[in-house]
Amino acid sequence: MATHVADNERLERELAQLMEVEKFPPPEGFRERALIGDLSLHADAERDLEGFWARQAAELLDWNDEPERTLDESNAPFYKWFEGGRLNASYNCLDRHVEAGRGDKVAFHWRGEEGEERDITYAELHRDVKRFANALRARGIGKGDVVGIYLPMVPELPVAMLACARIGAPHTVVFGGFSPDAVRERMEFSDAKALVTIDGARRKGKTAPIKDAVDEKLADLSSIETVFVVEHTGVGCEMRDGRDVWFAAAIEAADEDCEPEELDSEHPLFVLYTSGSTAKPKGVLHTTAGYLVGVAFTHRYVFDLRPDSDVYWCAADVGWVTGHSYIVYAPLANGATSVIYEGAPDYPDKDIWWEIVERYRVTILYTAPTAIRACMKWGAEYPAAHDLSSLRLLGTVGEPINPKAWLWYHKVVGGERCPIVDTWWQTETGHILITTLPGAQEAKPGSAGTPLPGIAAAVVDEEGNEVADDEQGLLVLRRPWPGMLRTLYKDDDRFVETYYERFGKTTYLVGDAARKDADGYLWILGRVDDVINVSGHRLSTAEIESACVSHPKVAETAVIGQHDETTGQAICAFVTLEGDLEGSDELTAEIREHVAKRISKIARPQRIIWAGDLPKTRSGKIMRRLLRDIAEGRELGDVTTLRDPTVMQQLEGKVHERQASGGGD
Ligand code: PRX
Repeated sequence: MATHVADNERLERELAQLMEVEKFPPPEGFRERALIGDLSLHADAERDLEGFWARQAAELLDWNDEPERTLDESNAPFYKWFEGGRLNASYNCLDRHVEAGRGDKVAFHWRGEEGEERDITYAELHRDVKRFANALRARGIGKGDVVGIYLPMVPELPVAMLACARIGAPHTVVFGGFSPDAVRERMEFSDAKALVTIDGARRKGKTAPIKDAVDEKLADLSSIETVFVVEHTGVGCEMRDGRDVWFAAAIEAADEDCEPEELDSEHPLFVLYTSGSTAKPKGVLHTTAGYLVGVAFTHRYVFDLRPDSDVYWCAADVGWVTGHSYIVYAPLANGATSVIYEGAPDYPDKDIWWEIVERYRVTILYTAPTAIRACMKWGAEYPAAHDLSSLRLLGTVGEPINPKAWLWYHKVVGGERCPIVDTWWQTETGHILITTLPGAQEAKPGSAGTPLPGIAAAVVDEEGNEVADDEQGLLVLRRPWPGMLRTLYKDDDRFVETYYERFGKTTYLVGDAARKDADGYLWILGRVDDVINVSGHRLSTAEIESACVSHPKVAETAVIGQHDETTGQAICAFVTLEGDLEGSDELTAEIREHVAKRISKIARPQRIIWAGDLPKTRSGKIMRRLLRDIAEGRELGDVTTLRDPTVMQQLEGKVHERQASGGGD
């Protein structure tokens, strides 16, 4: 123990020295061996944007019919890509590799939470996907029907997604950490015809029933005609006659021959719900060809991928867009070997990630800053106990990374020999848009880097004029890109209003604040709307507020994101109770539990502050800026526009009282 403490102290000193370094060029020897060692791709795309993407499309994918036209801008912002093209995503992810004799190659090293291991080859995955596609068809599901998927990180998850893609049925995956209420809501919005779920899920040695909990909520949802159930934990569940089918039995009974549907480029591939600035989640719609070109292109060049020698691990959950794009579609389209890990990063112990890196000789690791900060907190002894010499490239995604975490990642995990790519993108963008090409550009800790080839990112003021270097403004994208969302499912108006109303129909409003430095590097500062980013998970303040006020004792709530060292932001709820009710620790626990049930555990407020009243403008709008000042202990900004400025004094008094009494909020 003593040596660990000493080591950690030495590490602290070394990191403090590294904080002085602003730029990290590609490590020794990396540039020479990199797929891309210069900015020629950027130049190509600037010269001829459509020609550039047309070449990528031809190189990266196999088509039934080649596209006739690369980009149709005639009905902006409803852009179309690769019109006239016909293809199938599952064919591109599986068949073509098997046909080329690579069927025995491992697609996924699956690692279960209790240490179980399964190596799934391309041929095996292909067979299961074809069979499950037939099972879907046998239940009357076909082109255009939406299929919900609510599964933890089990091998059946990619099988289900690719089977949907094979028959042209858009999937809508709900992250396993979301509650059954959230599943129901998403199934209802998307009018899903089937749901694929599981008997139970495992988490840190415990098992929780899933199917039965979901059933309670689905009971009266008539659109769901079939529920496929994966048997994983043996917790047992009710099976409803005529509707419910065991996943394994369905595969077993299905034929292995299943021709992939030839689909139009713009055929919907999936809908993924994400949080916006209202309580209603947004169904982000991605289509087939543009999305696949975008993910395959970025995966190959940003991660400098060598499918023959790399073992790639994206440690996200498939239920988020990162998992859709960079666990399932891109690695398979590129014929890579990846790791899928079912469990938590600290079970059975805090070195499990590093054990996995050592075990599978992982060469590329892609994770979120919040995970890196958690590892930092646990101490360098955990990674130090394993051989991480196989690693050659590291990536981060989901939130800004603070330089100290970047340097820790670089030094402790990467052994100072691995470039780090900080990748900026969103559920809506489908794939990475801003980062550094690891063999061609230097990295600056804390900056995501520059726009990728063909991407036109700018930082503008409220009027849409570009601001000067180093000035803060709104991040916008001034050109379409292949993997962009096509609309919000069944809500074209909200799509236009959210992204293309502010600055016109050719400028995509990102929703992030940013600044650009003199080298053209972008520094992302966080969201400008009412979206909170907790551990890289995107949550809507409105959605959490609506869950809080649905508690019978709560009269009104305002939720804000408060700075947090580990999770980036933490949820803080100001709560006004009904009548004369008084706040208490029990009530805090009750409200937190209530939110967990309505949305997810990750949406539980970390802190609840009881408020007699909330600060509102004369027109009744809650002033969250002031609440953020209070929560973070800052001096209050301008309070003159408040209807009742005394509200703030009362609130400040409460927070101080709480801190003085030593109570953890
Ligand atoms: O605020 C940005 C932040 O995450 C938001 C998108 O969240 P989501 O749609 O859930 O997708 C996350 C994974 C792609 C963005 O608007 N964000 C994402 N990547 C970065 C980031 N902020 C800073 N740096 C990043 N690399």
